[in-house]
Amino acid sequence: MSKTTVFEGPIGVLGLGVCVPNRILSNADLEKMVDTTDEWIVTRTGIHERRILEDHQVPSDIAYQAAKRAIEESGVDPSEIGALIYCTYTPDHFMPPTACILQHKLGIGSGLCYDMNAACTGFIYGLQNAYAMIRSGMAKKVLVIGCDCASRIVDYTDRNTCILFGDGAGAMVIGEVPEGRGILGNMAGCDGAGAMLIYQKVGACAFPMTKQNIDTKDRYMQMNGREVFKFAVKIVTDAVEAALADAGLDVKDVDLLVPHQANVRIIQAAQERFNFAEEKTVITMDKYGNTSAASIPLALDDARKRGKLKVGTTCALVAFGAGLTYAASIVRW
Ligand code: COA
Repeated sequence: MSKTTVFEGPIGVLGLGVCVPNRILSNADLEKMVDTTDEWIVTRTGIHERRILEDHQVPSDIAYQAAKRAIEESGVDPSEIGALIYCTYTPDHFMPPTACILQHKLGIGSGLCYDMNAACTGFIYGLQNAYAMIRSGMAKKVLVIGCDCASRIVDYTDRNTCILFGDGAGAMVIGEVPEGRGILGNMAGCDGAGAMLIYQKVGACAFPMTKQNIDTKDRYMQMNGREVFKFAVKIVTDAVEAALADAGLDVKDVDLLVPHQANVRIIQAAQERFNFAEEKTVITMDKYGNTSAASIPLALDDARKRGKLKVGTTCALVAFGAGLTYAASIVRW
């Protein structure tokens, strides 16, 4: 790596791409699998359906498509991308990092290449890692991918979790953007006291998979939904306010709130606290559910397709997740 020089220009999004699997898992499908109803799921969460990987697919298949689209849109040659951050809690394997598989497939240049697990906050953590790398001069262009396929670790007999999650991928090429645009403010944090509120006990090194535990609920994701809900309602607005303060902006300067898509009631609570009009908020969980690290790029892509996101739009991105992690970034598109 050459000697680094701090970069002082604006840093932002050069290209955005997303990909979701074709297979749909609807609330009607779930009614046949667990004791639930479409009405309960829609009123309590806002979710109507979600996408699920085909049996023959692996997470990096959809991550690859999302990344390819982001790179194409950026117009950047892959070899000029100096770092790849793959945000996920559902990697293809523990080893090697999925980032390395994608680096090879996409033809990304040499530089830092790693998987990062900040659960559903992953994409914003990744974005802030990319920002810091470019600001410090370590890389000029960074590819950030958020991809999760919770369908591979969700218990489809547990109605508390299986109704919430869907699979998806989103990617961005980050680099220098014209003056007046880009990432304007950041905040990130973690409250490890809540680390076990969302967890998967078996499968890693504390409790490796054995013949005895392979068929138990311990090998799937488990969650205390009520406690996570309380945490989320508070942190969404606190995080946006902190990132706005970092940007030297006020909530009235925000054109578009782009929140992590976990539960529509969490988003409505933030809308009320900020006195935000519904059309200034992005909601995609109705069709994708909670796609974890892919949630923020999927929401941005959706907003762009609906004409809500244009050059100059000031967005407040905010997410929270297992850990408990949280982060917000203010981005002028
Ligand atoms: N269908 C029908 N009933 C269900 C159900 C389902 N899918 N899931 C739970 N219930 C039942 C519960 O068993 C409970 O019944 P009881 O009162 O007889 O015990 C009742 O509904 C209320 O449960 P509760 O957990 O209080 O519901 P809730 O309104 O808090 O909604 C979540 C549950 C999971 C939707 C909600 O807590 C949530 O979204 N939490 C945040 C989760 C999250 O965002 N996780 C990811 C973080 S990135």
